[in-house]
Amino acid sequence: MFRIDEIQKDIFRINYFDGKRPVGYSQFLIRDAMPALIHTGIYPLYEGVRDEIRKVLDPATLRYIVIPHFEADECGGMDRFLAEAPGSKLVCSELCSKINLYGWNAPAPLGMWNDDVLELGRHRLRFLMTPHVHHWDSMMVFEETEGVLFPADLFIQPGDQPPTTTEDLSGAMIQLYRTIGIMPSEDAVRRVLDRLDRMPISHVDPMHGASIPAAALKPYVHALREQPFAYTGSLFGKEVS
Ligand SMILES: [Fe+2]
Ligand SMILES: [Fe+2]
Repeated sequence: MFRIDEIQKDIFRINYFDGKRPVGYSQFLIRDAMPALIHTGIYPLYEGVRDEIRKVLDPATLRYIVIPHFEADECGGMDRFLAEAPGSKLVCSELCSKINLYGWNAPAPLGMWNDDVLELGRHRLRFLMTPHVHHWDSMMVFEETEGVLFPADLFIQPGDQPPTTTEDLSGAMIQLYRTIGIMPSEDAVRRVLDRLDRMPISHVDPMHGASIPAAALKPYVHALREQPFAYTGSLFGKEVS
């Protein structure tokens, strides 16, 4: 059910797929002087994710737990990772630090604004505010040394996906967005695509699906620019009104 693969240099994809949900779940571990975990997975997956991390490094040495937006699969395991790694800090968007991750029984997170940077050692994380790409408090993370974008739930691909794909699964992506209704607007996503166009991206590592090399990204970007995929009144296929 769990698998771990080094998909870029010192960047590990810890994937879980059980066939009960339409998507798999990936957390990303960056091995460096200041190790970072991008998303935690849901609370019950904590032991499984931690055991996979242990194959690469001691989970107690994690320094940053990066939460791209406040939702169970992105942050459900955060308190357990913080407890396991006493030197670690939560990292989220500044908006998230003000509206979602404050007032809890947890230390204050580091709130990142557009273009804020965290040095991990050999790797460097740059943060992009991407409000309303799925959630109000959303951000993405760009790892500058390897050129890897972590877009959370953008570029989603349903099913049990391998570590990397060059397949065009953009049709399935659009269909999934339409059915489950997780994107409030096309406009918020397209503003971000314009920024991504100007960035030296080598790979996109989404939370749900395979890593996509830049050369295979074109049909996904084209579909997001040209096709409707935003919420139109139904959630998980069920009409709201
Ligand atoms: Fe999400
Ligand atoms: Fe997610």
